[in-house]
Amino acid sequence: MENCFKTLAVVVIVVLLLQQAPVLVRATDADPLQDFCVADLDSEVTVNGHACKPASAAGDEFLFSSKIATGGDVNANPNGSNVTELDVAEWPGVNTLGVSMNRVDFAPGGTNPPHIHPRATEVGIVLRGELLVGIIGTLDTGNRYYSKVVRAGETFVIPRGLMHFQFNVGKTEATMVVSFNSQNPGIVFVPLTLFGSNPPIPTPVLVKALRVDAGVVELLKSKFTGGY
Ligand SMILES: *[C@@H]1O[C@H](CO)[C@@H](O)[C@H](O)[C@H]1NC(C)=O
Ligand SMILES: *[C@@H]1O[C@H](CO)[C@@H](O)[C@H](O)[C@H]1NC(C)=O
Repeated sequence: MENCFKTLAVVVIVVLLLQQAPVLVRATDADPLQDFCVADLDSEVTVNGHACKPASAAGDEFLFSSKIATGGDVNANPNGSNVTELDVAEWPGVNTLGVSMNRVDFAPGGTNPPHIHPRATEVGIVLRGELLVGIIGTLDTGNRYYSKVVRAGETFVIPRGLMHFQFNVGKTEATMVVSFNSQNPGIVFVPLTLFGSNPPIPTPVLVKALRVDAGVVELLKSKFTGGY
């Protein structure tokens, strides 16, 4: 009798775990069915990702990249930061593998403005300098603001879909490298989304939503025409 209950308990646990499994799988990119599938970025075929190059055309070089060995110019735009992207468009070898990276360099006082990655959780390491990393929770947490000054060698994690930013609070340039559990994490810059969409969000919507005058909305819109 006791054994019978134990068996039943095991069956119930297995069923509960199986019910969770599809949720766990959906939390990241789909699992690959091949060793690798080097993206054919020129292919017209539309799948959930990119079509694969023929294996014969996919050499060792697609599994390595030196794109983030050097950083970009941090003084070339008003943010005072420069993102060197290493998603599937820059690194066809990660196609279907559910991972990608970025390097971001910051001038003193530079920022990677508040943004969201709709398709990925992010883990990052600061390589040099001191970055204030801020993450804002959903309404579930009462919009809690989590933050820390992250220094060289230290790491952080940004849960998928949460708004976050980095800001260089140090006196020198700073560099971080981040990884995503998606080959194409996507980025929603909050200022650009609100004030630089194409075509623009009607001003009365933003006046009501932000509780300011039309002049303030127009001023903000004027800052984000052109995307920077
Ligand atoms: C980032 O740096 C690169 C290389 O220095 C430069 O060509 C590019 O214009 C910069 N990008 C932005 C958006 O500032
Ligand atoms: C600078 O930040 C804005 C959002 O505030 C964003 O739209 C733009 O793409 C950023 N530019 C660079 C070069 O990162």
